Amino acid sequence: MATEPLPQHYLQLTGIRKQFGNFEALKGVDLTVQRGEFVCFLGPSGCGKTTLLRIIAGLEAQTAGTLQQAGRDISRLAPAQRDYGIVFQSYALFPNLSVADNVAYGLVNRREPREKIRQRVAELVALVGLPGSEAKFPAQLSGGQQQRIALARALATSPGLLLLDEPLSALDAIVRVHLRQEIRALQRQLGVTTIMVTHDQEEALSVADRIVVMNHGVIDQVGTPMEVYREPATPFVADFVGRINVLQGHAAGEGRLRIGASEFHCAHARAPGSPVKLYLRPEDVLARPIAAGDSNVFDARIEKIEFLGSYCLVRVSSPALGEQGLTVYLSLNFLAEQQLTEGSVLPLRLLPERMRLMD
Ligand SMILES: Nc1ncnc2c1ncn2[C@@H]1O[C@H](COP(=O)(O)OP(=O)(O)O)[C@@H](O)[C@H]1O
Ligand SMILES: [Mg+2]
Repeated sequence: MATEPLPQHYLQLTGIRKQFGNFEALKGVDLTVQRGEFVCFLGPSGCGKTTLLRIIAGLEAQTAGTLQQAGRDISRLAPAQRDYGIVFQSYALFPNLSVADNVAYGLVNRREPREKIRQRVAELVALVGLPGSEAKFPAQLSGGQQQRIALARALATSPGLLLLDEPLSALDAIVRVHLRQEIRALQRQLGVTTIMVTHDQEEALSVADRIVVMNHGVIDQVGTPMEVYREPATPFVADFVGRINVLQGHAAGEGRLRIGASEFHCAHARAPGSPVKLYLRPEDVLARPIAAGDSNVFDARIEKIEFLGSYCLVRVSSPALGEQGLTVYLSLNFLAEQQLTEGSVLPLRLLPERMRLMD
């Protein structure tokens, strides 16, 4: 028997708007999520991430727009008629129910036989790394363990879509970093299409197949972590995802840029004299290797060294940049080896291929 090929566009959002009174929380969002993808909604607090996730879940009704999941129009379906599991930031486990009863919640609602439920629960708690914890109660578990159980509960009915709203943000740093990789590994293993909301850019960069960067109710950019980091579409994305330097300058003819009193090489197509903003990540300002004859080299003075463990965040300024400041990353070893301290002068090089100009 021939089976219908499943559509690759697993989830399709078209023209999603959300109005809260006079306030427009979502201003027309279009997004396609592929089957099996791990997508992160990333943006500052209040940009509309949770609202969009809740609309996908049917917990909030969109003011306008449509949603399709696995080829089915779910725009007006109640949450129970949709096919997803969800995990929230706060451990939304039922405190008066055991782990087993929490995990089994969705299965009991489906009136599955008791023995089948018991087996499925055992399988799920093992899957999230807590085998044998069925008889415990939420208060006996750490925050990280509670989120694992919340994850098991969300996965119990084998939903087509897993929705995670800042599931790690209430956990301490070490647990957070560990658990995000476990969620990622589990997602790969199960192949479940997943959307995770986060305001933590490092978290999004480390786990997502694609990142949806949101800003004030609109999507600024959708791309792989590398694309969003290396080729930010807007100044907002450049600034929100990772640290970035911004230098004011002017186009100075073919492939040249004037900053302060200096000229730098930079591929661009702007009319000479037009003002430009140059965006460059700290790691693309090199202290070495610098060879004789390299372009874009200038002397800079160290204003401030901020020790961050494996490297230092070093604030420099230079007459060559018209005294505009720059942040660079230098290793502790390099600083020691070159005997660099605040006030020292060192040559730096702006990597031309990493410069991005934005208006
Ligand atoms: N039920 C609501 N009533 C009124 N305003 C809301 C409601 N829910 C969210 N908002 C507003 O919508 C904006 C987006 O909220 P939210 O989606 O929770 O942002 P995020 O999850 O990105 O932090 C915020 O300004 C918030 O105050
Ligand atoms: Mg939120």
